[in-house]
Amino acid sequence: MSGHQTQQQPDRNLALELVRVTEAAALAAAPLVGMGNKEAADQAAVDGMRYMLHSVSMDGVVVIGEGEKDEAPMLYNGEQIGDGSPPQVDIAVDPLEGTALAANGMPSALAVIALSSRGTMFDPGPCVYMEKMAGSPEIADLLDLDRPLGETMRLVAERKRSAVSDVMVVVLDRPRHEHGIEAIRAAGARVRLISHGDVSAALLAVTERSPVDLLWGIGGTPEGVISAAAVKCLEGQLLGRLWPRDDAERDAATAAGYDLERVLTRDDLVAGEDVFFSATGITDGDALEGVRYPSAGGATTESLVTRSRSGTIRRITATHDRAKLRAIGGVRYGAGY
Ligand code: FBP
Repeated sequence: MSGHQTQQQPDRNLALELVRVTEAAALAAAPLVGMGNKEAADQAAVDGMRYMLHSVSMDGVVVIGEGEKDEAPMLYNGEQIGDGSPPQVDIAVDPLEGTALAANGMPSALAVIALSSRGTMFDPGPCVYMEKMAGSPEIADLLDLDRPLGETMRLVAERKRSAVSDVMVVVLDRPRHEHGIEAIRAAGARVRLISHGDVSAALLAVTERSPVDLLWGIGGTPEGVISAAAVKCLEGQLLGRLWPRDDAERDAATAAGYDLERVLTRDDLVAGEDVFFSATGITDGDALEGVRYPSAGGATTESLVTRSRSGTIRRITATHDRAKLRAIGGVRYGAGY
């Protein structure tokens, strides 16, 4: 068959519609940045995201959402989204990733969404946490959750033709990481501690020429699946292994059929070959600029929008007219505060 015959017509790129969804969540949450109320900021982001999700024609099911139906009135796990027309997709959302970051006006809060064909996203069930390691395409094959961390630092430095002391690992600042942090430092590598937001950290880790080479540590499983979608589009690697917090969680996971020893790759976490991802900055960070208000009536956003099949990565900056948005969407568009 000639190359000519294998060519396909360009199809719809859902990522370009999803950017409006994450922009809406970010614009809705932004007025609550620094106001000290995590729940209110999260609710505003959920409302903004849901409002704009209605504009996307699809037959979607939320696999990674705001929790179970009884605790999350909107964007709950299992919720059907869209008008029922094709494509059939799994949806992972985090309308406000880094609730404390936003509430405290700290860097790297994001609005994120990922889509993949129906039945291809990992459902974490009762498992709240997973151990994760993520890196760029250049070091993707070196990631290993069983090898001692210090040894991995040396291999990463060798691959990058740099000194171990040049390697920077981003880690959530948690007591559970004490030994891992010691091992990284003992090897001579450096650690960037963050208080929250390992999706943004994963984005940084998979981006070539970023200030961070690697993400390591135990963080949220939902965030792990969302990060895997982005990592897949950016052609890096993310490994994850479920990390039960206690015996009850271990028993529940085992009873539900989860293999707690298994190392999941990005393709296990998001198996679909047509994955769409969009993230919009809420507060400024290394990965994305946050929502800004350059004038009384205006707002700007920066988003990262990507699709695995084409490999296209877009950075979309947008200027918004808050008065017009208020007329269209009211408070849900962040224009009512
Ligand atoms: P929220 O947006 O739900 O507050 O999550 C922020 C976050 O820092 C994630 O980025 C991370 O995966 C997880 O929480 C870590 O959980 P914990 O704070 O319990 O260690």
